[in-house]
Amino acid sequence: SEVSQPYRTAFHFQPSKNWMNDPNGPMYYKGVYHIFYQYNPYGALWGNISWGHAISYDLINWVNLDIALIPNEPYDINGCFSGSATIFPNGEPAILYTGADTNKHQVQNLAFPKNVSDPLLTEWVKSSLNPILSPPEGIDAMSYRDPSTAWMGQDGQWRVVIGSELDHHGLAILYKSKDFRHWIRTSSPLHSSNKTIMWECPDFYPVSTNGKNGLDTSAIQKNIKHVLKVSFKTHDYYILGKYDPKSDKYDVDIDFMDSRGSLQYDYGRFYASKSFYDGHKKRRVLWSWINEGDSESDDNKKGWSGLQSIPRSIWLSENGDQLVQWPVKELKKLRKRKVHYKNKELKGGSLFQISGITASQADVEITFSLSNLNEAEVLTSDVIDPQILCTQKNASVSGSQGPFGLLVLASKDLTEHTAVFFRVFRSANSFRVLMCSDQKRSSLRQEVNKTIYGAFLVLDPRHEKISLRTLIDHSIVESFGGDGLACITARVYPKLAIEEQAQLYVFNNGSQSLIISSLSAWSMKKAQIVSIGKRRKHI
Ligand code: FRU
Repeated sequence: SEVSQPYRTAFHFQPSKNWMNDPNGPMYYKGVYHIFYQYNPYGALWGNISWGHAISYDLINWVNLDIALIPNEPYDINGCFSGSATIFPNGEPAILYTGADTNKHQVQNLAFPKNVSDPLLTEWVKSSLNPILSPPEGIDAMSYRDPSTAWMGQDGQWRVVIGSELDHHGLAILYKSKDFRHWIRTSSPLHSSNKTIMWECPDFYPVSTNGKNGLDTSAIQKNIKHVLKVSFKTHDYYILGKYDPKSDKYDVDIDFMDSRGSLQYDYGRFYASKSFYDGHKKRRVLWSWINEGDSESDDNKKGWSGLQSIPRSIWLSENGDQLVQWPVKELKKLRKRKVHYKNKELKGGSLFQISGITASQADVEITFSLSNLNEAEVLTSDVIDPQILCTQKNASVSGSQGPFGLLVLASKDLTEHTAVFFRVFRSANSFRVLMCSDQKRSSLRQEVNKTIYGAFLVLDPRHEKISLRTLIDHSIVESFGGDGLACITARVYPKLAIEEQAQLYVFNNGSQSLIISSLSAWSMKKAQIVSIGKRRKHI
């Protein structure tokens, strides 16, 4: 019998059933977007790791194809783990991926399309040279994985980084190659840190210091910075710096785990992300695995686990200090019924319902404008962890300038709701804007994760309005604060606030009144995600 599926999403990518984790090898090839993903064809929990494969013409509607890589060779029999695609100067792609071999040791493997004239790249052939790389002396064979997209240096040779560790600390091992098949380890890593644990899924790419356009991973030019992203401790952290394509030296601005704070792509649930350059639209696009926060027995019951984030455009902020993200513009194609308000006052302690749209499947954009900033609460210390602050001062704790924001996936009696909100604090002569996603009351169910997330938005509320865009899709709440300066993604599993029962509100639980300068909310259509192919019963 069919189980009811209130947590399946309508416009986030997910296979029709089973386990999915990291996005792998995203690329744009001959007019088609490709996404591969870590996939278990036989169950809702991690195992039998293969590469699922789906294609799209718009990054929103997808056709799931046959599995691209199956663990069936001695060098990957225990799993085809994460990896990346690289596009050669002649336009043809290759995949580098990690195999868990017969001893469960991690090795790096190469695969090519069977037929490069097929834009769908349905079949992949593993290289007869595999494994092309094995753990070097001194590197733990269980901590050597996730090759990045390769890039070309000034000498015309390829470079690639592999996630690893040394003395339990993060390490990005750098290799060079003339032919993409034979790789030589360089004398120093691209980067390392003794302040983190092992690095998974490194991503290394240039961003422009003027404008939002993306750059090819091998771009060498003036006015660029390089991003190094690594995944550890359930988060995706990144640093910015200057990369020299001659010496391979990478001079970082502010390193991982600096006392001044560390930058994350997303301050909620978002892991093992990967970006690619979309030469068609001249942008860099970011994908990420969003895992479940429900129990494994519930994952088994519903028959699936894991989502992909909405693909996001990513670029360097105007001040060059951080990255900015925004859902790809194609998402707007799914917007349908709309409600709109302008210049609406929201008094302290009030709640305002947004009716007329499907609140369980929506896209909401709201901009707040504040006055009486001098009434803001005082923040006594500068180095307060935003997540701790959001947890202490959750949505139910009233303040002065905030909490104000959205109550999403709320039940009619409000017993269930997820609050995405802001608070403005005063500290010395400046202001700090805190963004929170509070899942504490997201579900009456006890066993689901309700961790509260938080981030600071680096903007000055004296001169800038505070904006929020939230994508609500049944069990995912993906929020972009300050026009993409901080992102927080949460998974929620309401018991009452599902389907037509879900409600949407704007709230102000501060004492100061504020103005909603503009509010637009849309019901979202369901994206088309279909499966074709010989083995479609598994996907
Ligand atoms: C990250 C990760 C990778 C690995 C893959 C295995 O989530 O652990 O390091 O390649 O998942 O599925």
